Amino acid sequence: MKEKGGLFIVPLCSQNINNIVSYPFSGTIPKEIGYLDKLERLLLFNNRLSGSIPSKILNMSSLTALVVDHNSLSGPLPSNTGYSLPSLQYLYLNENNFVGNIPNNIFNSSNLIDFQLYDNAFSGTLPNIAFGNLRFLEFFLIYDNNLTIDDSHQFFTSLTNCRYLKYLDLSGNHIPNLPKSIGNITSEYIRAESCGIGGYIPLEVGNMSNLLFFDMYDNNINGPIPRSVKGLQKLQHLSLSKNGLQGSFIEEFCEMKSLGELYLNNKKLSGVLPTCLGNMSSIIRLYIGSNSLNSKIPSSLWSVIDILQVDLSSNAFIGNLPPEIGNLRAIILLDLSRNQISSNIPTTISPLQTLQKLSLADNKLNGSIPESLGQMISLISLDLSQNMLTGVIPKSLESLVYLQNINFSYNRLQGEIPNDGHFKNFTAQSFMHNDALCGDPHFQVPTCSKQVKKWSMEKKLILKYILPIVVSAILVVACIIVLKHNKTRKNENTLGRGLSTLGAPRRISYYELVQATNGFNESNFLGRGAFGSVYQGKLLDGEMIAVKVIDLQSEAKSKSFDAECNAMRNLRHRNLVKIISSCSNLDFKSLVMEFMSNGSVEKWLYSNNYCLNFLQRLNIMIDVASALEYLHHAHVSDFGIAKLMDEGQSQTHTQTLATIGYLAPEYGSRGIVSVKGDVYSYGIMLMEIFTKRKPIDDMFVAELSLKTWISRSLPNSIMEVMDSNLVQITGDEIDDILTHMSSIFSLALSCCEDSPEARINMAEVIASLIKIKTLVVGANAV
Ligand SMILES: *[C@@H]1O[C@H](CO)[C@@H](O)[C@H](O)[C@H]1NC(C)=O
Ligand SMILES: *[C@@H]1O[C@H](CO)[C@@H](O)[C@H](O)[C@H]1NC(C)=O
Ligand SMILES: *[C@@H]1O[C@H](CO)[C@@H](O)[C@H](O)[C@H]1NC(C)=O
Ligand SMILES: *[C@@H]1O[C@H](CO)[C@@H](O)[C@H](O)[C@H]1NC(C)=O
Ligand SMILES: *[C@@H]1O[C@H](CO)[C@@H](O)[C@H](O)[C@H]1NC(C)=O
Ligand SMILES: *[C@@H]1O[C@H](CO)[C@@H](O)[C@H](O)[C@H]1NC(C)=O
Repeated sequence: MKEKGGLFIVPLCSQNINNIVSYPFSGTIPKEIGYLDKLERLLLFNNRLSGSIPSKILNMSSLTALVVDHNSLSGPLPSNTGYSLPSLQYLYLNENNFVGNIPNNIFNSSNLIDFQLYDNAFSGTLPNIAFGNLRFLEFFLIYDNNLTIDDSHQFFTSLTNCRYLKYLDLSGNHIPNLPKSIGNITSEYIRAESCGIGGYIPLEVGNMSNLLFFDMYDNNINGPIPRSVKGLQKLQHLSLSKNGLQGSFIEEFCEMKSLGELYLNNKKLSGVLPTCLGNMSSIIRLYIGSNSLNSKIPSSLWSVIDILQVDLSSNAFIGNLPPEIGNLRAIILLDLSRNQISSNIPTTISPLQTLQKLSLADNKLNGSIPESLGQMISLISLDLSQNMLTGVIPKSLESLVYLQNINFSYNRLQGEIPNDGHFKNFTAQSFMHNDALCGDPHFQVPTCSKQVKKWSMEKKLILKYILPIVVSAILVVACIIVLKHNKTRKNENTLGRGLSTLGAPRRISYYELVQATNGFNESNFLGRGAFGSVYQGKLLDGEMIAVKVIDLQSEAKSKSFDAECNAMRNLRHRNLVKIISSCSNLDFKSLVMEFMSNGSVEKWLYSNNYCLNFLQRLNIMIDVASALEYLHHAHVSDFGIAKLMDEGQSQTHTQTLATIGYLAPEYGSRGIVSVKGDVYSYGIMLMEIFTKRKPIDDMFVAELSLKTWISRSLPNSIMEVMDSNLVQITGDEIDDILTHMSSIFSLALSCCEDSPEARINMAEVIASLIKIKTLVVGANAV
């Protein structure tokens, strides 16, 4: 293959990803390649090559890209001072078995843009003044080697010469400390996990005004967090967990306008959690577990309504769980375990329909477990162990379809342990040490005979009237003992790593993706979207993922891909699927996302066991609309990813990410992906969700389509088209519903105008839906 007069060697696979798995190159790299003196790009990534890199290859004057990542290459790199790669821009040696020093002459390649040698066993000391030359460097990824930076000051000072540096990852090497000169680095992304960094965080860190991501997880940094961090107004992710930081949770965090993720699981932070927390409007993950914070949880926390994950575990927080806990409408994880919270569990927690993990273990909660917890449909893990909860375990929990872990041990519960749904699989370990639980023998409790029930009735009376008096007396004594004891107890914790990695970025290699998707097998193919194909996969740890492989027709587009992905990874909208990782080489780009197998709308809509009410359906559609609106309008373009998704990609064949029935008419005629096409699909979905009819339903033949069916029903026969489950409501309410239905169907029809130009946009859709919702909620409140 010829390109610009030079030879261009590519592996067989670059046209067809499937080939990577079936026909990789093996053996060694022939040294003769080194004689191709006009060769510009040597791309041998993702093969099974072994042996070392022939030394001649490191003296090729035209070579711009040396890409040999993901092989089994080994040995040290030849280091001959007579060698040079003056044209080199891309050097990818990552994920091989290289050892030895990084030869100094590589740093003479002054055109280097992208320098990636992570996941090898390079060792020795990095030359101190190495970066003076590398004026164009954007990526410097050396993580997971055994390299030593012996003088942090010189190293970081020399990095300040790289004015285009965006992405610096030094994790898993050895760095003595963070010098002041770090403040002059321009990189947007800096990561140095597990580098043995000691000393303080210099004040100058606050000067890195471009910084989006700063991760110093697992080092020996001590001292306070400098108040200068408030200068980091673009910072989205700050991880300082697993260090020895002291001092308090500084109020300056509240002034960091972009901060989305804050990880401070340390041992020694103390004092109060400030009330200004309520101003952290962009925060979505807050991990401050395993410290010694000892205030009340500020009530302002419950007004951070878009927060997704909160971990305050293993501190000494006191106070109540207020009813306002129900405001956290997007929350996925709430861990308040191992504190001193003393109240009952407010029933207002039940509407938290996105909550997947709730741990209130090891507090002083009392009262009964609200029956309405059974409404928390997303719940996967519920830990209420080691409290003082009384009453029965609500039978409503049987209906939670995703529930996998529960723990009610060490409480004062009684009555029958539910035994349907997932309870069949729970063991005695989840119910130990309670007052009088009974039920199936596999829970190792007595069976619930009638007598037991009667006895427990009596017991209920005792519990209700007599015990409290006795208990209060005991409690007073106990409190005194506990207080004394606590003074001496050390706040030891083991939770740090597990929790803090929950939201931390993951590295997923190309090889893992290949394995996860069976080599991008057809059976894993989910669909084809505006900018690439989507595959379903399963990682070794069992996590389900969706992999979006980006089509890269023009390589220009790919250049800043990593930076964009990293920006994307840290940018979360609560309706967007979480991006776990990205994997990219010169010719392969992908985004790895959470695979949303749970709780698809389809399941809720078409299964007889579940029925969503009017408001629930409305909420879902508002969420979907918000996600679309988010993708369509300005927000994303800040990060440049919009160009992957925009109308410029219209040549992409749109077979069917959206399936037949949802496609706008112009897809058929022109094969165009557009924002307006999405609006059409959305309109159809809106009709579907309120009629419970799929657009491909058998009843829609000839020219009767879902759309025409609905349009004919307006304004007087709406009752006939809407889902009969919604019609069963009686009284005045049905009139209201009909009015709202009529607005919704009209809205859906304006999304589905035949002419794309005539369709409304998603922002208008949201505004209309929210208006309807306000009316619905307002009416119900009366
Ligand atoms: C490297 O290549 C240059 C020409 O590009 C040549 O002059 C030099 O001798 C070569 N070095 C070695 C050690 O072969
Ligand atoms: C590389 O740069 C060093 C100085 O940094 C110089 O001594 C050496 O000769 C250069 N090597 C080549 C091959 O240009
Ligand atoms: C790391 O490098 C040091 C020398 O710099 C060496 O003593 C040590 O064995 C290396 N460790 C590993 C795991 O390779
Ligand atoms: C950072 O850059 C400024 C301006 O170039 C310079 O005055 C200052 O000395 C630098 N700081 C460090 C610690 O290198
Ligand atoms: C119980 O566990 C088995 C095996 O682990 C699983 O196949 C089954 O679906 C589970 N049942 C319920 C109701 O969770
Ligand atoms: C429930 O909590 C108790 C007390 O913390 C613990 O001993 C037990 O192992 C837990 N059970 C399960 C199933 O995790």
